[in-house]
Amino acid sequence: MEIISEFNLSGNNTFHIPAIAEYFASFDNIESLQELVSKFKNHNQMVLGGGSNVLFTKNISGIVLHNRIDGIDVVKEDEDFVWVRAGAGVEWHALVKFCVANNWGGIENMSLIPGTTGAAPMQNIGAYGVEIKDIFSELQAFNISDQSIQSFSNDACRFGYRESVFKNELKDQFIILNVTIRLKKVPEYNISYGTISNELEVMEVKDLSVKAVSEAVIRIRSAKLPNPAFIGNAGSFFKNPVMSGSDFDKVQIKYPAIHFFKTSEGIKVPAAWLIEQCGLKGYREGDVGCHKNQPLVIVNYGKATGKEIFDFSERVIDAVNQKFGIVLKREVNVY
Ligand code: EPU
Repeated sequence: MEIISEFNLSGNNTFHIPAIAEYFASFDNIESLQELVSKFKNHNQMVLGGGSNVLFTKNISGIVLHNRIDGIDVVKEDEDFVWVRAGAGVEWHALVKFCVANNWGGIENMSLIPGTTGAAPMQNIGAYGVEIKDIFSELQAFNISDQSIQSFSNDACRFGYRESVFKNELKDQFIILNVTIRLKKVPEYNISYGTISNELEVMEVKDLSVKAVSEAVIRIRSAKLPNPAFIGNAGSFFKNPVMSGSDFDKVQIKYPAIHFFKTSEGIKVPAAWLIEQCGLKGYREGDVGCHKNQPLVIVNYGKATGKEIFDFSERVIDAVNQKFGIVLKREVNVY
């Protein structure tokens, strides 16, 4: 177990920000994690997975713990379902590929989401009408204060739109070790999200399969979203605002063309539309900008600093607020 001082995190965050961690260490099992947590108990501790949802605006004091717990296992099955457990350090898309290869359904709409499996329940990742909460069975997490290992059921995680108990009441108290999902042996497809059915038509798919839906999603995402390997970004920078009916009505009277989706939580307005209406789609200042295909994604074209990206995001928030009176909330975790 190597502890590195003054570690450059540019390879550990998808914005490629060269923030410096005072200390950095990877762990791939619980024993190493326990040792690190004890040794650095008087320091600030931060856990990093794939770094695909963080923005570093400053150097990080204390220790950054890189979660690399590996392994994908089938832990249970019955006639209808199979339960698959993955280590928190497993790339999310590797888990997707494993399930798709076995033709187990439920995860295919979430193909190609960057990041690790351990980070997925943190913010209840989702795409194309499906969220991890829909297939989530349980997770095990390490309690930093007493070093115990606790299980969390779906209910205990208190999932919401890009929310969980680990982003709120239990923030910074637990380290996710592994996640178990439950998949369907006889898949039921969710292709109601328009772009998926269009893409399946373009692909001339006759018989739906988990693989075909996964491929459609991969094609849509690859065509639209910038690949963080080449151009720094953290996916959607903001959440889509969810409004009450009466608040929404006021905005709709002024802007009848406003896009919206009804959800159980309220009326969801695509932030991408709001940003586009402010003329910011493809807008760039120096090395920071709103992506030309999906303005909800803020990109680092090269050498932007975390502070520059943050300040740019403030200006996006201001522009949307001035025009629509709606305050966008960041989805990305800012440090
Ligand atoms: N839109 C525009 N202009 C654009 C792009 C989109 O007006 O340039 C509007 C349209 O009304 C479109 C709507 O936004 O119908 C939705 O666009 P899209 O399908 O691209 O999805 P999104 O709401 O912008 C969310 C997630 C994504 C996820 C997609 C697909 C959030 C914050 N983002 O984006 O998740 O991939 O749906 O399901 O909920 C992420 O969280 O990092 C992420 C990429």
